[in-house]
Amino acid sequence: MLTLNIIGAGRVGQTLGRLWQQRGVFAIEDVLTRSVGTAQGACDYMGGGTAVVHLSALRPAAVWMLAVPDAQIAAVARALAATQPVHDHLAASAPTIFHCSGAQGANLLAPLVEKGWHAASAHCILSFASTGAALQQFPGTPCALEGDAVALALLQEAFTAIEARCFPVLSQDKLLYHAAAVFATNFLPVLQGMAEDAWRASGVPEDVLPGLRASLLANAVANITALGPQGALTGPAARGDAEAIATQAHAVRAWDAEAGAAYEALSALALRMAKASTESKATPASSR
Ligand SMILES: NC(=O)c1ccc[n+]([C@@H]2O[C@H](COP(=O)([O-])OP(=O)(O)OC[C@H]3O[C@@H](n4cnc5c(N)ncnc54)[C@H](OP(=O)(O)O)[C@@H]3O)[C@@H](O)[C@H]2O)c1
Repeated sequence: MLTLNIIGAGRVGQTLGRLWQQRGVFAIEDVLTRSVGTAQGACDYMGGGTAVVHLSALRPAAVWMLAVPDAQIAAVARALAATQPVHDHLAASAPTIFHCSGAQGANLLAPLVEKGWHAASAHCILSFASTGAALQQFPGTPCALEGDAVALALLQEAFTAIEARCFPVLSQDKLLYHAAAVFATNFLPVLQGMAEDAWRASGVPEDVLPGLRASLLANAVANITALGPQGALTGPAARGDAEAIATQAHAVRAWDAEAGAAYEALSALALRMAKASTESKATPASSR
């Protein structure tokens, strides 16, 4: 079984480490975090590994997972490279290292590539809110892989073995790819928060809000899941009602300038989507 060293064992590191250890995909060797206490806690949770305190104390391993926060990846890669010997890139013994960031590419691992390592990034599209929840939710999680061919082949097999659904993403597309995930999930609470503030400002009683939140969100999720974004679009943009959009945008701007700008920008996108939907319905299926 291939050995795995883990640098950074928080929510993502512990979840993946435990799954790989449990399924016999990798044997966890050494685990490094910012303190020996958290590293030991991670080893206990994952059911394997030895907690170490310094990068220089990490023993050789076939695979290295860098699951530190994005802002730490480049610095840790540089510091790790300074402790490592040069490998023959073509030798079977050349180690593979990957980080888990969605927005950053494998190029952050360049100091190790210069030492002959294979490098990749592997981004699991799951909100790892806690290790316990993520462990239950992980099967079926899509995982975007990007990097060199040797690293990609190894990681494809390792992630598939823990029931991730892998797909490739090009290095130059990672920022846009990650921004898409921000649209898909991170902006939802922002939109909901803005809606609730506007309801409050327009006199909707506080005790009505939880019900509004639950029913509208549940309806939207059900409709988008069943019909896709275009099919689920309703409201003034879906009806092409530019006048209603303009008067509502004016009211929102008078209440909150930033919210008004967001309302206008999102309405323009909604109109574009409604137009595309109308055009695709008007095009005969045979000529699409
Ligand atoms: N959370 C998510 O939903 C999610 C989803 C997909 C991808 N990711 C990506 O996964 C990576 C890890 O995120 P996370 O949410 O697991 O982070 P996290 O829970 O905050 O854990 C970070 C880990 O890195 C350790 N660490 C921080 N700085 C370090 C350093 N300089 N040297 C060694 N260890 C260091 C921390 O040590 P201590 O334990 O001692 O604090 C901790 O173990 C990031 O690239 C993130 O973008 C996260």
